[in-house]
Amino acid sequence: MHSRRALLYMPGDDRRKIEKATTLGVDCICMDLEDGVAASRKQEARAVIAQAMRELDFGNAERCIRINSIGSGWEEEDLSSALASGPDTIVVPKVETPEQVKWVSERIAAYEQQSGLPLGKIRMLIGVETALGILNLKEIAGADSRLEAIIFGAEDFAASIGATRTPEATEVLYARSAVVVACAANSLQAIDMVYVDFRDIEGLRREAEAGARLGFSGKQTIHPNQIAPVQEAFTPDEAAIAHALRIVETFEAHLAQGKGAYALDGIMVDMPLFKAAQNVLARARAAGKI
Ligand code: COA
Ligand code: MG
Repeated sequence: MHSRRALLYMPGDDRRKIEKATTLGVDCICMDLEDGVAASRKQEARAVIAQAMRELDFGNAERCIRINSIGSGWEEEDLSSALASGPDTIVVPKVETPEQVKWVSERIAAYEQQSGLPLGKIRMLIGVETALGILNLKEIAGADSRLEAIIFGAEDFAASIGATRTPEATEVLYARSAVVVACAANSLQAIDMVYVDFRDIEGLRREAEAGARLGFSGKQTIHPNQIAPVQEAFTPDEAAIAHALRIVETFEAHLAQGKGAYALDGIMVDMPLFKAAQNVLARARAAGKI
């Protein structure tokens, strides 16, 4: 799967920001047709994205286009115009039912077939960011094999349940963890909420590290200055990699001697810690650190 430590949004009608995004070394570039674009500018944004897709070199970044939500009235035109521009990935916001996932995936499949593309080539990411979406996560996460990640939207979710956003984010902890669990059960990546105070890099770093500890594989970003701290937070550092390697080596050696549990530096190591160490190494490998 494509590494998705940071996913950077920019309004689809802002050519300058799309150009800038291609120079930043970000894992995923997400050109937005949804909430970052005014209702009066949707048509313009579709055209700007199509032209940018033709003219710009996105390097290794994943080229994502976020359409408007199913039922907005814009989704059909967004999707056909996005597909025609040849994206890697379609992002669907505010998903609430498995049928919505299947509806988009079937349209993508029809496009792939008619364009002679391999079936399943175009990937799909979805936003779950409403009360109903969180309740239906189990069915949504398993709805379609095209799905690679679920993105949690905290601002929309807080609005949908009548919560007030706080820096501690306890009001969205249940939903964040629900997304991580549904993703883990279906081998999907989980992408954490936006940190809207984009001048506060220390706060961003803390929130990104907390998200990584909860089990997220990446985080949404809205400004160039957010990319490095977020991508670092989702990449294991040297000490974490060394420690994980040591656990894997010693665990396998003890297992060969018939021991499932042992002490390492005064800490008990057994199967769950071994699995956690393997997760760290998988992340390090995905980030090209080993
Ligand atoms: N993607 C790419 N480049 C961006 C960017 C983004 N999301 N946000 C800012 N930049 C660029 C600016 O164009 C500017 O580049 P320049 O000096 O070469 O023109 C530079 O980074 C510095 O920008 P800055 O002046 O600090 O920000 P701003 O006040 O122009 O914009 C926001 C602030 C929040 C409006 C802007 O960051 C933004 O549009 N973010 C994305 C919003 C969005 O897509 N929301 C929907 C999804 S949640
Ligand atoms: Mg949202």
